[in-house]
Amino acid sequence: MKGKFITVEGIEGVGKTTNIDFIHQQLQVAGRDVVLTREPGGTPLAEAIRGLLLDPAYTGMDSTCELQLMFAARAEHLARVVWPALEQGQWVLCDRFTDATYAYQGGGRGIDSGVIARLEELVQGDFRPDLTLLLDVPVEIGLARAGKRGALDRFEQEKVAFFERVRNAYLEMAQRSPDRYRVIDASLPLNDVQNQIAAILSTY
Ligand code: TMP
Repeated sequence: MKGKFITVEGIEGVGKTTNIDFIHQQLQVAGRDVVLTREPGGTPLAEAIRGLLLDPAYTGMDSTCELQLMFAARAEHLARVVWPALEQGQWVLCDRFTDATYAYQGGGRGIDSGVIARLEELVQGDFRPDLTLLLDVPVEIGLARAGKRGALDRFEQEKVAFFERVRNAYLEMAQRSPDRYRVIDASLPLNDVQNQIAAILSTY
């Protein structure tokens, strides 16, 4: 692949949207041709699957159904958006990717990571992000911020213990893959968070 694939991860309320906009701008200033996208979603079909996944009407969805819907959306997104863009030399900036599956369906729901790895292999082979930025905040801070945004989706309705498991799963992945991961302390004031991000991108 000619372009680079950058993913941004973190629990709810870490400031992903604001910081992704900032990363997008920084990459553009550096002269990159950037495709900004998200998971689950990024194509009409994958966005329709996202609608099912986030809809509180399906509270209690079977966890392996949830897992397969995540990868179904991902297969479509990779084939139609991510891989064609990278082949053309564009950079792809993606709001969440497979690490979110290990964190939410693995850590959060308790699905064995070996099962997730089998679907990962089926859908993406050995394709992995070039760089993953993990925006990290303590769960209480993230949930307090997310709670201010209005109606909660199916994931946002989960309890604190669920998000503690998700956060721990992310931090463990970051420890295991220090070459790919950069952990950003997103509990600091926005200006400091963006200075951390800019410093990482400048070396990249
Ligand atoms: P977002 O609202 O931050 O874009 O993410 C939608 C929700 O989907 C979020 O609560 C995390 C969840 N999610 C998973 O559980 N597994 C995944 O693989 C992905 C990509 C997202």
